[in-house]
Amino acid sequence: MTTKTEKYGGLKIKNKEQSSFEAVLAMLEHPDAMLTSVSYKSLSGFLFRLDIPTNRQTPPFLGLNASGTALNQPVYTLVFKCSLIDDVTSRRPPRIRALKIDETHRYKKQVETLKDFTQEAAIQQHIYLNTLSPNGKPICLAVADFSIFDSAYATTSFIDLLKSKVHHPERDPNAIAMLEYLRKILIRHNDLKMGMISMELAERRTTAAAHGGVLSLQDCKRTLAQIIIMFFRFQHINFDLHAGNVICTQNTSYLIDFGRVVNLQKPMTKYFLKTYRRGFHKSYHFEYTRLANISVTDFYLNKKNENEVIENLQNAIEFIKNVDITKNCEFTKTEFRLPQMQHLLDCVFKGGSVYDHLLDIAHLIREMTEAPTDRSTNALSRKAIRNMIQQGRIFSFALEQDDDEDTEEDEETEEETEEETEKETEATTKSRKRSLSVRFQTRKRRLSPSP
Ligand SMILES: Nc1ncnc2c1ncn2[C@@H]1O[C@H](COP(=O)(O)OP(=O)(O)O)[C@@H](O)[C@H]1O
Ligand SMILES: [Mg+2]
Repeated sequence: MTTKTEKYGGLKIKNKEQSSFEAVLAMLEHPDAMLTSVSYKSLSGFLFRLDIPTNRQTPPFLGLNASGTALNQPVYTLVFKCSLIDDVTSRRPPRIRALKIDETHRYKKQVETLKDFTQEAAIQQHIYLNTLSPNGKPICLAVADFSIFDSAYATTSFIDLLKSKVHHPERDPNAIAMLEYLRKILIRHNDLKMGMISMELAERRTTAAAHGGVLSLQDCKRTLAQIIIMFFRFQHINFDLHAGNVICTQNTSYLIDFGRVVNLQKPMTKYFLKTYRRGFHKSYHFEYTRLANISVTDFYLNKKNENEVIENLQNAIEFIKNVDITKNCEFTKTEFRLPQMQHLLDCVFKGGSVYDHLLDIAHLIREMTEAPTDRSTNALSRKAIRNMIQQGRIFSFALEQDDDEDTEEDEETEEETEEETEKETEATTKSRKRSLSVRFQTRKRRLSPSP
């Protein structure tokens, strides 16, 4: 066995005997499947899309239908997010050379740790499944599969398969350059691996604004509502939410790219806590505890709670912004900069009508999280989703308590002043109970490499 494959998905697999990777392979091996490049400029991602013909034959995956009522919509396109992965935990991932697209364009690239890449897929998957219920309005895209290939399988088999699906290399030289680069790095560093998250496609809206990475006011309000849902339901904050990490489609928008997300249920580093205090003259724990008892339903407006809802929204957005800034300081070891989510804040807070915009955000939170009352049976209830996972129709990460995780990252963790430690206790203990940390389900089926 030369490939290690793990399968967790958010799309429904039509044939319940098939694993999610087998389903991805079935799409790839379709004689008319076509692979095109999507993106390669960031530090670690190599993105492709795979299209199969939209003919009558039902494809292996079924996704959410347009009315958001069931997973019965044939999926003809997948997006592959590939990364170079190091699974040796005792070292820093090796440096690799830049990706050269042509004579003039070079892009710095870096190897990701297995843990980070797995975490990215797991968080996206968890948030998808848990916002799909109860009303079919997920805030992110479904993960269809998550696989890791070792260097031998990737370089002798899988990359060739991908390459053979680039139908017009002359029209898409970037796809070939990306695949050749992945192959060369994996041959040179043969202890590295290639990771691949397969997910559904979000077709960007074709307006000028959506193309230029500039979001409309309505998109910004929806995105802020989604960020608030992510914070209050999952205690996670994505500190990389620039406009490129929001995809606006014809009818809605999605958060994408969970590569830089902080789990607030875990202890913060000493550096983070100091930087937060220095930047905002407030204690991180105090601020977090203040918000910890609020849930998304507290944002549902009624006749009496308008002022309270607005105040909670303002506090939450302020806190999320501060965490965004502080995590980026920690991440880049640089001084304070604008938060990555600045464009969202400008849109909503610059100019008049802030109060009305916040009321709209509260309405959007309700719209995206409230259970439907008009359906006799809900195909997307938590119970229905759980059943599909148990039957192997949707593969998923099991989420368990795991206190040992992240220790190496948090070497300088949390030796805080007594005052802060006390304040932390309540919020952290409470939230740890709901810990999102990732463990894998044992019901993995292994797949032999294709011949
Ligand atoms: N599921 C998707 N559907 C459509 N486009 C996508 C999808 N995922 C990523 N993209 C496109 O690829 C770009 C890079 O993807 P992203 O996940 O942000 O990777 P990176 O970590 O390299 O920034 C995005 O800005 C977006 O334009
Ligand atoms: Mg990105």
